[in-house]
Amino acid sequence: MTKILKIDPLNPDKRSLRIAIETIKNGGLVVFPTETVYGLGADAFNVEAVSKIFKVKNRPMDNPLIIHISNFSQLEDLVDVDFKKRKFLDFISHRLWPGPVTLVTKKSERVSYKVTGGLDTVAIRYPAHPVANLLIELSNTPIAAPSANLSGKPSPTDAKHVINDLNGLVDIIIDSGRSIFGIESTIIDISTEVPRLLRPGPISIERLKVLIPTLELPNIQSFRKPLSPGMKYRHYSPESCLVLFICEDEEKMVERIRRHLRKTNNKYIILLTTDETINLYPKDSNNFKKISLGSRRKLYEIAHNLFDSIITADLEKPAEIIVEGFKEMGLGFSIMNRLRKSAHRIVGEEDEV
Ligand code: TXA
Ligand code: MG
Repeated sequence: MTKILKIDPLNPDKRSLRIAIETIKNGGLVVFPTETVYGLGADAFNVEAVSKIFKVKNRPMDNPLIIHISNFSQLEDLVDVDFKKRKFLDFISHRLWPGPVTLVTKKSERVSYKVTGGLDTVAIRYPAHPVANLLIELSNTPIAAPSANLSGKPSPTDAKHVINDLNGLVDIIIDSGRSIFGIESTIIDISTEVPRLLRPGPISIERLKVLIPTLELPNIQSFRKPLSPGMKYRHYSPESCLVLFICEDEEKMVERIRRHLRKTNNKYIILLTTDETINLYPKDSNNFKKISLGSRRKLYEIAHNLFDSIITADLEKPAEIIVEGFKEMGLGFSIMNRLRKSAHRIVGEEDEV
């Protein structure tokens, strides 16, 4: 039922994408790659097609979708903003797009409340991925797409994750290999008087602040309260119990994990660690396995591997997946945002143990 199309991520050709383009035009569902994670797409202006996305993902109807575009002129159909806001939107979008950033602004009448979960604002993203760009361009319509996972599960960063979750439930899955960034786009709400960061992502806050000095940053604590509708739901969670160890001090964190490992009573544990710390733990055995997420000095590597490692570990059905934490700076802030949301338990912060 589901057709899987292997498409070269750098040089997609029109002919091989034809069936995906026809599917979008006919109101079907197409999973496509972006530079962040895979998206589950439908024609943003086809309300019936959009409804199918919610059904397939089992997504609550009040959790709005992002609309993906492939050129700036598509904005005209999507937004309805006054002159001042428009200038700001143009300023920001021309600096950050195409790229891993989503902007929330007032929606036009053409955008259905189905897409926006009943809100008067719409989230828009112009991805930087040749396959996504060509698919949107040739389908001749913006594409509404959430991440292509079942609701509440980690986002797919490889077509094989999508095939596990959605095979038989969608029309087409485009397989272009692994996503480059591995975590979802940064979301900025520019509909409010002062622009607000809703979700940290691949573009660091430090860089955003240069562009938008007034950007309101919720502190880590407030990220636990929902800022946008989707954020009140559980996120990124594997089936296995994920235990996150906070890292205010690397040595202390490793010591805490080692202590925890000594008390696990022969349960099967998978530890997601890093190149710098992997040798500080016991050797792999029948009930213990270590996987490195990459180097602490290359956080983009950690982000790239994060969901893939969690999903892969989860397939082995361990009693626990233990994950080392990161300092909440730069990309580390976004990585920890995802880990905090996916954790069943957080160890190392007094109020959360
Ligand atoms: O990188 C990404 O953003 C990926 C790729 C596929 O583009 N997409 C993605 O979509 O992560 P999704 O649906 O998993 O996350 C979108 C988030 C949700 O938390 C949703 O609540 C929020 O964006 N959102 C969408 N529209 C919004 C709006 N009008 N106001 C506030 N938040 C909104
Ligand atoms: Mg998602």
